[in-house]
Amino acid sequence: MPDHANDELIRKLTTALGKSGVLTDPADRMAYESDWRGRYAGNAICVILPRSTQEVAQAVALCAAAGASIVPQGGRTGLVGGAIPLAGEVVFSLERISALRSIDPLGMTMAVDAGMTLGAARAHAARHQLDLPVLIGSEGSAQIGGIIATNAGGSNVLRHGMTRQRVTGLEVVLPDGRVWDGMRPVAKDNTGYALQQVFIGSEGTLGIVTGAVLQLVPAPKSVLTAFCPVASIDAALSLLVKLRSSLPDALVAFEYMNAATVALISDQRPELAAALALPGGPSACLLIEAEDFTGTEATQDRLHDALVSGLERGEITDALLAQSVAQREAFWAFREAISFAQNGLGHSVKNDVSVPIGSIPELLTRGSALIAGICADAQPICYGHLGDGNIHFNVSPASRDHADALRACEPAINAALADLAEGLGGSFSAEHGVGQAKRDSLARLRAGPELEMMRRIKSALDPQGLMNPGKLL
Ligand code: MLT
Ligand code: ZN
Repeated sequence: MPDHANDELIRKLTTALGKSGVLTDPADRMAYESDWRGRYAGNAICVILPRSTQEVAQAVALCAAAGASIVPQGGRTGLVGGAIPLAGEVVFSLERISALRSIDPLGMTMAVDAGMTLGAARAHAARHQLDLPVLIGSEGSAQIGGIIATNAGGSNVLRHGMTRQRVTGLEVVLPDGRVWDGMRPVAKDNTGYALQQVFIGSEGTLGIVTGAVLQLVPAPKSVLTAFCPVASIDAALSLLVKLRSSLPDALVAFEYMNAATVALISDQRPELAAALALPGGPSACLLIEAEDFTGTEATQDRLHDALVSGLERGEITDALLAQSVAQREAFWAFREAISFAQNGLGHSVKNDVSVPIGSIPELLTRGSALIAGICADAQPICYGHLGDGNIHFNVSPASRDHADALRACEPAINAALADLAEGLGGSFSAEHGVGQAKRDSLARLRAGPELEMMRRIKSALDPQGLMNPGKLL
């Protein structure tokens, strides 16, 4: 848009939202214009901080009238650049719309504003002995609107599903500024197209989620967490099968880290490795978690017995069982440190793929061979949610000196791993979405009716193409 049109839009937005609701100074905008990895950055016309759904609606209508593009933004914890502006959009930050609207302990639902952090929502639920079971390391910053717009996954998907499974109702500001009130706190609403599902995972390209009704679950009485060096990926899968049958309703997380990942953390964050006192050199490890609802020792005994059998069969070589909340936190701190530790080597390539669980060994073997063929001095940092078939097939340089070489190989590595995952019957983006990062893969691998349907939905709901351009499609 020409400068005078931008100035006019900013003037109107300021009239609607007040001076403190519109950030135009580059220094004020800066935090909203890049992601935490420093990987994606752009320039917005301005950043707006509406205080209510009505203010969002008013601002969207002003942008639509001016033909200005919009980037909806939550906590900026995403990994594919989906909430970061490219150039010349208006960023809508939802951070000031963060209230608890209501909580219904009997129906086990909560209605919240989209800007509430996941951590705050879980804390509200916990006051009623309930939980919002979405387990991601960034819960202190990630916002409800963002996890819905990206259909966030996480570490307990094998038990509780993706964010999509948690949403019963939505409130969305549509691209023309109208508000769709679909905030129904009921499990059953069989009235035609499940419209809320269209917005979940749409990455801000169809509208702005401003509120949601979320289905909660009873909070467990306690959580049991184990950290185990594992002999091989086949051994890990064999243990998974045993744990699923001995803890059918209790197993919530089954996380895998390959040996290179464990070595990376031990190197970059030696204090986290020391807290675990891992025996021997780095080997692949599992982080296993189960929930107990009985208040007795029954679940703990079953987990214990399953791990002892795993030790006897040689599947795992040790089993550390958290004896305190602090020890559980130490296990998870090790696991959640991986992304940050990768940043320490200067450049990291992120691939977030899923395959049928039985194909994971083939994915790891063939993927590692492909990477070795594309880029010498690169190391596959493979970890993730083995229990649901989702591996973060990341790649780091062997050392900081090789970061530039890896950067040059990134497109070829991404294409090869995407093709491999899709060829094995899986997905090139399991839980991180498409954003800016994986648009090429979407265009290449989902061409045909799938992409065509997406484009038709996009143009039906956003005919001006103003919502989050350059992302997803
Ligand atoms: C994780 O599970 O830690 C993230 O989804 C993966 C990542 O940061 O690459
Ligand atoms: Zn993940």
